Amino acid sequence: MATDHIYLDNAASTPVADEVMAEMLPYMKQQYGNPSSIHRFGRETTRAIQLARKRVAEMIGASPREITFTSGGTEADNLALKGTAIHARSREPEKNRIITSNIEHDAVLEPCKDLESRGFVITYLPVTGEGLVRPSDLKNALGKDVALVSIMHANNEVGTIQPIKELAGIAHQAGALFHTDAVQAAGKIPLSVKDLGVDMMSMSSHKINGPKGVGALYIRSGLKIAPIIHGGGQESELRSGTENVPGIVGFGKACELAAKRLSQYQTHVSELRDYLIERVSKEIPHSRLNGSRTSRIPNNAHFTFFGVNGEDLIIKLDENGVAASTGSACSVKKQKPSHVLKAMGFSYEEITGSLRLSLGMHNTREEIDRTVSVLSSVVKELRELSPFKGKYA
Ligand SMILES: Cc1ncc(COP(=O)(O)O)c(C=O)c1O
Repeated sequence: MATDHIYLDNAASTPVADEVMAEMLPYMKQQYGNPSSIHRFGRETTRAIQLARKRVAEMIGASPREITFTSGGTEADNLALKGTAIHARSREPEKNRIITSNIEHDAVLEPCKDLESRGFVITYLPVTGEGLVRPSDLKNALGKDVALVSIMHANNEVGTIQPIKELAGIAHQAGALFHTDAVQAAGKIPLSVKDLGVDMMSMSSHKINGPKGVGALYIRSGLKIAPIIHGGGQESELRSGTENVPGIVGFGKACELAAKRLSQYQTHVSELRDYLIERVSKEIPHSRLNGSRTSRIPNNAHFTFFGVNGEDLIIKLDENGVAASTGSACSVKKQKPSHVLKAMGFSYEEITGSLRLSLGMHNTREEIDRTVSVLSSVVKELRELSPFKGKYA
């Protein structure tokens, strides 16, 4: 790939940081012991996992024993939802309902569907036009039959941040547990599990300059959930399978880096993001920023360009050196209209014209300038070809 290609799809994945790579490499070559082995090779990798667990815990204000490593955000979400549901069914069978929102990632929605097919009841909360869950809607939906509320921290498409502390408090008042999918938030905004009052929180390494295929679920100390993968009993019996040692080491380092440079990240990325939004809004007619202006993760800019097809826009941008996305990389190949934008009340035209530009630490102002200029001409070109030519050209 050309090195001058501009990467604005950091919500999908991020480059592995040099420091992360350097810490991982020995665990692929010299330090290959199985952490379950008693000899020194095993003890070495066990120590590496302990350090990584401490670093992940520190980033979110947890204690190391509250961290369970998984194969990523998807597995962490599955473990939280299914693990809670299975445990509740065996202990308190009357608690057979889960509340979630209409704008969750498929990593939450699909396990919910699966649980529905196994007799659990799922309540899906609506959202506002900005993508916010209303606390009053959660209050009204709660009841004694609810085992778990699962609401994402920041949305992967439009970047809206939910009032997690308030929502968790409401869930607890009704006797329900609270899980949040913080895959898009952890490492990007200040975040403490104790302050938020959540019982479980999902994270993913590759969104914060760590390797792919590793993540974690925070499980509050004292809380019991059922495992969903059975075997040798690794991760305190919660997630069997020989640990992905290089991945876990890399994730730990990525968390340490993210925590250390959090304010630098927030300043750099949000300044670029605001500059991008300002220029697009001023220079590209019939464009609109989607999601909340104020309650938003620092690296997300999500627009609708009226009279343009978002898929065509991405192809044209890519041809002209800019990598962008319409939304969720994980479901984009399904070519279905975004369930998030639908839930926010968008029309078909507003959904098809949507584009997500998500920034990272390595992006520069010069790249934003080039992006705006490419975007302006590509949008113009596509509008010329569109049946809406007269309306938006
Ligand atoms: C909000 C959210 N949850 C879960 C996931 C899945 O994480 P992973 O790719 O680590 O499985 C993603 C990935 O895009 C995400 O954005």
